[in-house]
Amino acid sequence: MISLLYKSSYVFVLFYYAVIPLGYLTKWWVTVEKMKGNSTILVTGGSGYVGSHTIVELLKNNYTVIVLDNLVNSYSDGGCKPEALKRVEEITGETVTFYDVDITDRAALDKVFKNHKIDAVMHFAALKAVGESVRIPLKYYQNNVGGSAILLEVMACNGVKNMVFSSSATVYGDPQFLPITESHPTGQGCTNPYGKSKYFVEEIMKDVCTADPDWKVILLRYFNPVGAHESGLIGEDPSGIPNNLMPYIAQVAVGRRDKLQVFGSDYPTPDGTGVRDYIHITDLAIGHLKALERMFSPNFKSWKAYNLGTGHGYSVLDMVKAFSEVADRPINYEMVGRREGDIASCYADASLAKQELNWVATRDIKDMCRDTWNWQKKNPKGFKSS
Ligand SMILES: NC(=O)c1ccc[n+]([C@@H]2O[C@H](COP(=O)([O-])OP(=O)(O)OC[C@H]3O[C@@H](n4cnc5c(N)ncnc54)[C@H](O)[C@@H]3O)[C@@H](O)[C@H]2O)c1
Ligand SMILES: *[C@@H]1O[C@H](CO)[C@@H](O)[C@H](O)[C@H]1NC(C)=O
Repeated sequence: MISLLYKSSYVFVLFYYAVIPLGYLTKWWVTVEKMKGNSTILVTGGSGYVGSHTIVELLKNNYTVIVLDNLVNSYSDGGCKPEALKRVEEITGETVTFYDVDITDRAALDKVFKNHKIDAVMHFAALKAVGESVRIPLKYYQNNVGGSAILLEVMACNGVKNMVFSSSATVYGDPQFLPITESHPTGQGCTNPYGKSKYFVEEIMKDVCTADPDWKVILLRYFNPVGAHESGLIGEDPSGIPNNLMPYIAQVAVGRRDKLQVFGSDYPTPDGTGVRDYIHITDLAIGHLKALERMFSPNFKSWKAYNLGTGHGYSVLDMVKAFSEVADRPINYEMVGRREGDIASCYADASLAKQELNWVATRDIKDMCRDTWNWQKKNPKGFKSS
C-alpha cells in the first residue's frame, strides 16, 4: 500500500514536472513554427526605410507579405510597384503584393483585408519629420493618430487582432535616467507633435487591449536606425535635406552636400556633441521578426513594449570619425548652435528584448557606416537615380 502510494506520487511528480512542461513547450514550438512559415503579414508603410528592410527578413523567413503605402515618402516611377519593393524582390527572389492605399482611407483599407487572410499587421506608415510636425501638427495627428485608429478599427472588424507597432524612443522625452528602460515614464517630455503622435498611438493601443483581451500588441521603441541592407540595393532615401545625421554625413561624403552642421557642441557629453544609440537597420528588422514570434506564442497576452537599440551611445563626432575612416575621406563639418527640441544623450537598456525576444543587435558602428556608404555610393541620388 505504501509503496503504491509512493509510486503514484512519483507519477504525479513526473506528470507535473516533466509531462506538462514538455506538452506546453511542444505546443509553443508547434504554434510558433506553424505561424512562421504560413502566416501573412500586412505591412503598412512597407516601401519606406524600416519597412522595406523588415520585409526582406520576413520573406527570408517564408512569411507572405502584403504591402500598403500611399507613397507620400517613397519613390515610384509610376509603375506597378515602388522602387524599394522592386529591389526587395530582387534581393530575395520573392514577390510581394502591393496596394497604393492610404491608411486613413477606411474603404480601401477594408478591401485589402477582404482580399487576403491576414494574420498580423506591422504598422510602419507614419509621417516622421520632427520639424515639419511643429509647423503642421494637424496633418501629423490626422495621419499618424487618426490613421492608426482607422487601421485598428478595420483590423478589429475583420477579426485581425495582432499588431506590431513602430514606436520610438522619442516617447521617453528628455531621459530622466540612462540607459532608458521600458519602465521609464512616457509622454511627459515629448516636445513635438511627431513624438506626441507616437505616444498617443501607444496609449490608444493599450486601451484597445484593455477593452478586448483578444488583442495582442507589441510596441517597438526604436532608437536611431541607420545603415542599409548589405547588398546596397535598399537604404534610407530622404527627400530634401536629411533630418538625420547618417544620411547627411553620407551625402557630404559623396559630394552632394558641402558640409555637415553639428547642432550643439556644449552638451554635457564627453565631446560636447549629442549622444545617440545608433542601431543597424538589419538588426532592427530582425527585431521585428522576433517580436512577431513572441506575439504568436500562446503565452503572450495583451501588450508589451520593447526597446530596440544596442545599448551603446555614440556622439556626433564619433560617427563622423567612424564614417570618414570607412569612406577613407575627410567629412567636412562645422559646429553650430543647438537645435530646438534636441536632447543631450539617449541610449537604450536593451536587456528586456534580449530576455523576452531572444534578440540582440550584432552589427557595430563600423558595419553601420560601411553599409550606409555602400548604399550611398551605388545610389548617389537614392532610388531615383536608376
Ligand atoms: N527612421 C527612424 O529614425 C525612426 C525612428 C523611430 C521610429 N520610426 C518610425 O518607424 C516607422 C517607419 O519609419 P521610416 O524611417 O521607415 O519612415 P519612411 O518615411 O521611410 O516610411 C514610412 C512609409 O509610410 C508611408 N506612409 C506615410 N503615411 C501614410 C499613410 N497615411 N498611408 C499609407 N502609407 C503612408 C510613406 O510613404 C513611407 O513609405 C514610422 O512610423 C516612424 O515614425 C522611425
Ligand atoms: C523556408 O522554406 C524553404 C522551402 O520550403 C525551406 O527550405 C527553409 O528552411 C524555410 N526557411 C525558414 C527560415 O523557415
